[in-house]
Parts: sequence; structure tokens; C-alpha cells
Amino acid sequence: MTAHRRSPSLTERLDVSYDGIHRAADLIKRGGVVAFGTETVYGLGALSTSRHAVARVFAVKGRPSFNPLINHFSSKERAFEEAVLDGPLGTLAQQLADHFWPGPLTLVLPRHPKSRICDTASAALPSVALRVPRGRAVQQLLALIDAPVAAPSANRSGRISPSTAAHVVEGLDGLIDAVLNTGSCAVGVESTVLDLTGDKPVILRHGGVTQDALEEICGPLSSPAPQPSSSSRPTAPGQLSSHYAPSLPVRLDVTSPRPEEAYLCLGNADQHVDSQQLIWNLSPSGDLAEAAARLFSGLHFLDHEGTRRGLKAIAASPIPAQGIGLALRDRLQRAAAPRSVTEENASDG
Ligand code: TXA
Ligand code: MG
Repeated sequence: MTAHRRSPSLTERLDVSYDGIHRAADLIKRGGVVAFGTETVYGLGALSTSRHAVARVFAVKGRPSFNPLINHFSSKERAFEEAVLDGPLGTLAQQLADHFWPGPLTLVLPRHPKSRICDTASAALPSVALRVPRGRAVQQLLALIDAPVAAPSANRSGRISPSTAAHVVEGLDGLIDAVLNTGSCAVGVESTVLDLTGDKPVILRHGGVTQDALEEICGPLSSPAPQPSSSSRPTAPGQLSSHYAPSLPVRLDVTSPRPEEAYLCLGNADQHVDSQQLIWNLSPSGDLAEAAARLFSGLHFLDHEGTRRGLKAIAASPIPAQGIGLALRDRLQRAAAPRSVTEENASDG
């Protein structure tokens, strides 16, 4: 299935009024594809129970069918209907959900035999990814739909994730039924994905819940080594290297940007930089939570404005490998990873 761009007027703009949220719920319940904000990034929502709706999500994103989607719910009880919660890791899942939901944590669990999530949403895996997002509008929306909602980030596969409704419109106008404008996303990077299907918990993707916070409940955690970029099915989905890519190349750990580069910096790194330099400061005070919330807006801005000014690359300051800094570093490393057309199509979108 390929996505055909509709006339822009066919993508409805909805606000978070009673009518807007009900309209978004209604469209999704009828098999539509609607983007909405969560605390992390905007998601491209569709019924996980409908093969047709899920196929549209994959087509709109240009996402490879082997890369499974996260299912969103309004409550832990609804989410856990789709999974088997056996043994110590089942108990751990309950504890984590009690602690972090609603919030930016996705749990990968063995799929329940009676799960309503269609096999294409979970890429025919024996597991399902479950998440209860935080936010008044998204909670109301999910409660009205009262079914699992698949929602990958609302960007074309391999491109920068959207943290505002304007970013969604920029990439997907005319391709989807509606955008529910819930404002800017407070956390700004995607959920942490934690795999609970093996012998011990494994972080598949760093995100809004920090490793330190998880370890307070889980004990020491490991993350799998990134897999090489490839168009073939990865053993750990989400671990392919090329992702979050702006059009301009990205250079990492730069303290002295070149004149022909836009500069994504943190703290007071911009003080000694030429006043002509195109700059986006993630957080002048060096606050990593603020930096996460401003990361994707910064990449979108520097990519556009840098391209318009004929700049050659985006240079990024070093980011400390602590707390949510791990998620920022991961997104920037993926943005900087070498890419080819094949790699871009295979990335985890
Ligand atoms: O914050 C988020 O998680 C956002 C918002 C919209 O909720 N969603 C998001 O979805 O980032 P997406 O599709 O862009 O990323 C889903 C990640 C991918 O890395 C995918 O491979 C992984 O979750 N994933 C999904 N189901 C999985 C499964 N059964 N096993 C392992 N990884 C899975
Ligand atoms: Mg994504």
C-alpha cells in the first residue's frame, strides 16, 4: 500500500476542545489516521485492531512492515489485557506501570493469546509494546476510543520526530485525516522502550524515563549494542542506526562550529561563537530536561533555516551521558549516522 497525498484541505485541523477531541476519537474509531500530541512526541494514531487502519499508518510513514508499532491505552488495566504477565517480569511490569504510567515508558511484553492487536501492528512478533501516555487531551482521546491505538511518531520514516502540530503538518499534510493540536510536547523525546520478554529487562531505546529511574525499580540494566544499518529484519526492532535524520548532515561533539555550519548547542557554548552563526541553544543553563523538550524543534529549525541559507551541516555540542542526556545522545547519533536510501527505509521511524 502506498500513501497518496490528498488535498491539504482533507487533513482536518482539530483543537483540544470537546468537539475537537470527540471528532478525533470518532475518526480513529471509524478506521481513520489522526495525529495527536503525547507528552513525548506527536503520534500517528490508528486502531491497532484494524488491519486496514494499521496498513495506512505503515503506508503514510513509509515504514518497513517488520518494524512493530507501540499500542497506546488510557489505563494500565486496558493495556495489560493485551499481554501475559507471568513470573517475576510480569510482577516487575506491574510495578513499573504503577510507578511510571501515565508517562514516557513503553513495556514490551509477551502477547496475550486473546490480544485484539492485529498481527501487522506487532509485525507478527510474539510480543506487544504497550504504553499509557500522559496528558489531559491524549488521555481523554484514548478513553473515548476505548481500544488499543497504534501510534508511531508522526513523521515519515527516518525523518525528524515531530514535537509540535506544525511539524506534523509539514511532513504529512494531505496524507492523514486530521491533526489534533495538543500544543508542544513537554518531554520532547520518545518513550523509553523496555523489553520484558527475556530473562531480564533490557532497554531497547533510551527515552523520557531515565535509566537511573528505571534501575531504582529494576536493578542494573543493560541496553543491546546498536545493530548495523540494514534493510533486513533486525533482531531488536528500533536498534537500526539511521533515524531522526535532517536533510543536512550532522556532526557530533563540536565545540567550535565552522562558519558553514548551523550550531545546536547546550549551556554557554554559544558565547564565543561568531554572531553571524545560525544557532539553536537547547538550554542556556545546560538543563537536560529543557534540552530534550527543545531537541526536535531545534533540529527542524536548523535544518530549514540552514538549508535556506546554504549551510553545509548541523554541528552539535557534546551532550553529557547522564539522565535524559542518554536519549538525546542516542537521537543525535542516529541523526548523524551515515545513510543511504535503503538504510533510511529500514530505520525505525
Ligand atoms: O514516545 C513514543 O513512544 C512515541 C509516541 C507517539 O507514543 N511513539 C513512538 O513510536 O516513538 P515509534 O513507532 O516511532 O517507535 C516504536 C519503537 C520502535 O523502535 C519499535 O521497533 C519498538 O518501539 N517496538 C514496538 N513494538 C516492539 C516489540 N514488540 N518488540 C520490540 N520493539 C518494539
Ligand atoms: Mg519514531
